[in-house]
Amino acid sequence: MAGEQLKGRWSLNGMTALVTGGTRGIGHAIVGELAGFGATVYTCSRNQKDLDERLQEWGAKGFKVYCSTCDLSSRTEREELMNNVSSTFNGKLNILVNNAATVILRRATDLSAEDFSRVLGTNLECPYHLCQLAYPLLKAFRSWKYSFYLICGW
Ligand SMILES: NC(=O)c1ccc[n+]([C@@H]2O[C@H](COP(=O)([O-])OP(=O)(O)OC[C@H]3O[C@@H](n4cnc5c(N)ncnc54)[C@H](OP(=O)(O)O)[C@@H]3O)[C@@H](O)[C@H]2O)c1
Repeated sequence: MAGEQLKGRWSLNGMTALVTGGTRGIGHAIVGELAGFGATVYTCSRNQKDLDERLQEWGAKGFKVYCSTCDLSSRTEREELMNNVSSTFNGKLNILVNNAATVILRRATDLSAEDFSRVLGTNLECPYHLCQLAYPLLKAFRSWKYSFYLICGW
C-alpha cells in the first residue's frame, strides 16, 4: 500500500543506477525497487548463472536491467565493470549503491591473513575504488551526492 502510494508520487524514469551484488538479498531488493520506479539498473555478481536467472525474472516484470560478472575483490575487474557501465549508460550515472560484501563467520583467532585481506578488499577498498571510478560518470549527471555505502557485516 505505502509502496503503491509512493509510486504515484515520484519516478526514476530516465535515471541510471549501478547496484553491486544484485543477485541475492538486499542488493536484489534494491535492483527491483529502483527498476520498479523506472530506473535503468546495472548489476553484477561473480555467478553468471545467477545473473541469467535474475535477468529473466526482471525482464518478465518489464524492468530494464543490465549485468555482467565481476569479482569485486579484483581491482582490474572493478575497472572493467565501470567501463561496461559507462558504455551501457553513455558515460552517465545517477546512483551508485555499493551493496556487495563478503562476510566470513569465523572466530577472529581462526581468520587467516588471506581471509582478512579478502574481506577488507571487498568491503572497504572496493566501495572506495568504485566511488573513485564512478565519480566522472556521476559528475556528468551532477549526481555525486547519491552514492550509497551498504557495508558492514563482519
Ligand atoms: N543481511 C543482513 O542482515 C545485513 C545486515 C547489515 C548489513 N548488511 C550488508 O548489506 C549488504 C548485502 O547483504 P546481503 O545479506 O543481502 O548479502 P548476500 O545475500 O550475501 O548477497 C551478496 C551479493 O553480493 C555479491 N557479491 C559478494 N561478494 C562479491 C564479490 N567479491 N564480487 C561480486 N559480487 C559479490 C553476491 O553474489 P556472488 O556471491 O554470486 O558473487 C550477492 O549478489 C552487505 O554489504 C552486507 O554487509 C546485511
